[in-house]
Amino acid sequence: MTTYTAIHLKQRPEDGKIGEYLFEVKEKDIPEPGDNQILIKQTYMSLDPAMFGWMTDDRESYIAPVELGDVMRSSGVGTVVTSHHPDFAEGDRVMGMMGWQEYAISDGKGMNKVQEGIDEETALCVFGLPGLTATQGLLNIGEPKSGETLIVTGAAGSVGSIVGQIAKAEGLRVIGVVGSDEKASWITDELGFDGAINYNTDDLEARLEALTPDRIDVFFENTGGPIQRHIVNRMNEHARVVVCGMIADYQAEEPTPGPNWLPLIKKRIKIQGFAMPDHLDESPALIKQLTPYVQQGQIKYRSHIIEGLTSAMEGLNLLFEGENKGKLMVKL
Ligand SMILES: NC(=O)c1ccc[n+]([C@@H]2O[C@H](COP(=O)([O-])OP(=O)(O)OC[C@H]3O[C@@H](n4cnc5c(N)ncnc54)[C@H](OP(=O)(O)O)[C@@H]3O)[C@@H](O)[C@H]2O)c1
Repeated sequence: MTTYTAIHLKQRPEDGKIGEYLFEVKEKDIPEPGDNQILIKQTYMSLDPAMFGWMTDDRESYIAPVELGDVMRSSGVGTVVTSHHPDFAEGDRVMGMMGWQEYAISDGKGMNKVQEGIDEETALCVFGLPGLTATQGLLNIGEPKSGETLIVTGAAGSVGSIVGQIAKAEGLRVIGVVGSDEKASWITDELGFDGAINYNTDDLEARLEALTPDRIDVFFENTGGPIQRHIVNRMNEHARVVVCGMIADYQAEEPTPGPNWLPLIKKRIKIQGFAMPDHLDESPALIKQLTPYVQQGQIKYRSHIIEGLTSAMEGLNLLFEGENKGKLMVKL
C-alpha cells in the first residue's frame, strides 16, 4: 500500500452536533521520514470527549483549537515502520499524539514506547490518558485518605472507573454516578464500588444520602449536570473537589447552573480544576504511581472498539450519548 487515509477538520460544529459534515477524508501518499524522524503506522486511535472542544473556535482553553484544514487531533498507539531517529527502531510500539490518520510522521517528541508485555488496548485504556488523568487527579490533587468517602461522576467511563478502583485500593468508600443500570451493575459487581447512583432514574438527593452515611470527602467530577449541587451540599469539612470534566455542558448552549458556594466557606472545601496537557512531561512519574495498582490486579477496564478510521466521525457521538461501554477507541 502506498497511500493512506487522513481526516481533516473542515468546519466548526453547528448546534453542538458532531458528524461527517465536519470533516474531509483525504487519500495521501505515505511519506518518507526525514532525518531524526520516524514513520508510525497507527493501530488504535483514542476518541475523547475533549475533541469536541478542540473542534470549536475556543481560544481561551488550555490548548489551541484544531485549525480548519488540519488533521484532527488525537492520541493513539502504533508501530514504527521506518526510523531515521537514533532513539527508535523499526518495530517499536509507541504511544502519543498521532491524529486521525493511518500513518504519522514524528520527531519523537512526546512519543512514549509501550512497555514490554503490555498490549495496545491496555496501553490506551490504562497507561494512556485515562490512567494518567485518574492518577494525577485523584492522587496528586484529591488527597484521598483511607476511611474517607469518594464520589466519582462518569464512574463507568475510562477515567472514572480507574479513579474509583484506585480509591478502593487506597481504602476509601467509593460511590459512582452513572447513566444506566447496566453501568451501575458493572461498577458495583465487577469493579467493587460500594454503591452506584443512576442519575437518569434515581431520586438523587435521597440516594446520595442513603449511600454516603459519613457524607463525602472527595468529589471527582467528570460530568457536571444536576447532581453536582447535591454532591457539594453533602460534603464534609475540608473536603476536596477535583474538577476533571464537564461533559454534560460541552455541547450545551447554556451550562447547567452550578452549586451555591456557601458550603465552600462553611466546610472550607477546596476545588481544583486540572488539564492533562500541563502534566504530559510528568508521564513517567505518573506511570510509576499507577503501575503498582495494575500489577496487583486492582485495575480492571473495558474497551469499546469501533472499526476503521472513518468510523470516528460519527463514533465520537457515543461518548455524549453515554453509549460507550468503556474506553472508546478506533481500531485501524
Ligand atoms: N482534565 C483532563 O485533562 C481530562 C482528561 C481526560 C478526560 N477528561 C474528562 O473526563 C470526563 C470523562 O472522560 P472519559 O474519556 O473517561 O469518557 P467516558 O467517561 O469514557 O465517556 C463519557 C461518558 O460521559 C457520560 N455522559 C455523557 N453525557 C453526559 C451527561 N449529559 N451527564 C452526565 N454524564 C454524561 C456518559 O456516561 P453515562 O452513560 O454514565 O452517562 C459517557 O459514557 C470527560 O468530561 C472528559 O472531558 C478530562
